[in-house]
Amino acid sequence: MKVLVVGSGGREYSIGLALQRDPAVEKIWFAPGNGATDELGENLSFAGYKELAEFAREAGIDLTIVGPEAPLVDGIVDLFREEGLTIFGPSAQAAQLEGSKIFMKNFLARHGIPTARYIETDSFEKAEAFIETLDAPIVVKADGLCAGKGVIIAPSKEEAKEAARGMLSGESFGEAGSKIVVEEFLDGYELSVFAVCDGKDYVILPAAQDHKRLLNGDKGPNTGGMGAYAPTPLADEELYRKLEERVLRPTLDGMEAEGMPFSGVLFLGVMVVKGEPCILEYNVRFGDPECEVLMPLLKSPASELFYKAATGRLSEATIEFHDRYAVGVVVASKNYPYKSSPPAEIIVDEIHHEELKANSHISYAGVTREEDGKLYATGGRVLVCVGLGDSIREARDRAYLLVGQVHFAGKQCRTDIAYQALQE
Ligand code: AMP
Ligand code: GLY
Repeated sequence: MKVLVVGSGGREYSIGLALQRDPAVEKIWFAPGNGATDELGENLSFAGYKELAEFAREAGIDLTIVGPEAPLVDGIVDLFREEGLTIFGPSAQAAQLEGSKIFMKNFLARHGIPTARYIETDSFEKAEAFIETLDAPIVVKADGLCAGKGVIIAPSKEEAKEAARGMLSGESFGEAGSKIVVEEFLDGYELSVFAVCDGKDYVILPAAQDHKRLLNGDKGPNTGGMGAYAPTPLADEELYRKLEERVLRPTLDGMEAEGMPFSGVLFLGVMVVKGEPCILEYNVRFGDPECEVLMPLLKSPASELFYKAATGRLSEATIEFHDRYAVGVVVASKNYPYKSSPPAEIIVDEIHHEELKANSHISYAGVTREEDGKLYATGGRVLVCVGLGDSIREARDRAYLLVGQVHFAGKQCRTDIAYQALQE
């Protein structure tokens, strides 16, 4: 099978690694890929999705897998399907579950799926009146895609009003903030739960936990994610059952009934409040760095999972996961997440320890290969060190041993990934 992976991050690299160990996969292309994906396959530069679809047809690509949300919201899946190509991901219409917070919140409300109490509005007066009915802290969200930055957790009513005013005036997020959602703050612990869907059926993946803040102990600014691990003991059988009954089934049935069956990855941002799951948000793609810890846990061939999902035949597949743990530590550049950092050469020490070698690897993200063949850190999140083990502790220790083998100027990472699972 010939597979095309769209995207350029650590997420796409980890999908590439899973495809590489699948004997059914003949060749992998990355569009555009990064400075390290060319070790797994071939990088492609392309001008637009139409051109990419033409390439896919001419090269006889059997399956395209889309990593990031932007191409999905822009309709890459619709375009590829019109060309008769097999592609894994939701249509533009279904991708609104991530593309518009208002669409998502109203969908949840229509189908009785548990979520925080909210209003959607483009009027400051309405926002202000609703804020008055809530207890602080209060959450204010821009409707559109803001690269993960459109959510403000205001510590007081006054600050919530300020945030709403800033968004609605266009000052904070431009057009993406012309409508907002104001909602109650949910106090609990957060999980990332992923389901690979084919429109009707789904396969639920081991629940993961992300670490969104820059610094240890969940301090500092929000980032794209500084590390993840899976499966998390914070999700038990009962919680999976509640999620399937109250969230996944009604979502797939609801999307189908509304004429936009959901295929692709449904990413449930879950807050567990006193044992009850509540949906914070939907995304329509894998999380990054969650994908980097989930892909190594996949025992079944990756092409089988994604191809069957893309062709509406998940019910025929038996998808298995390794009974192990994975911990991923993001290694970021010096100035992340504030501004870019000067390119820095990456040196990875040779690993002589056989056990570490067999149970850890790097997923590369913000890297560029220069003409001298050397790899440079050029992005914010540069790479993810992944450790595998029979316990979270073992996996975590291996991930951090690998972090110690990686060097570049300004390297930074959290040292407490998976702490919530390791608390005594
Ligand atoms: P979102 O982009 O909607 O996932 O929000 C980003 C982050 O803000 C989430 O991962 C949560 O940590 C936090 N957050 C969003 N909504 C709420 C809420 N209603 N209550 C508490 N935290 C929230
Ligand atoms: N790690 C969270 C996300 O990808 O949105």
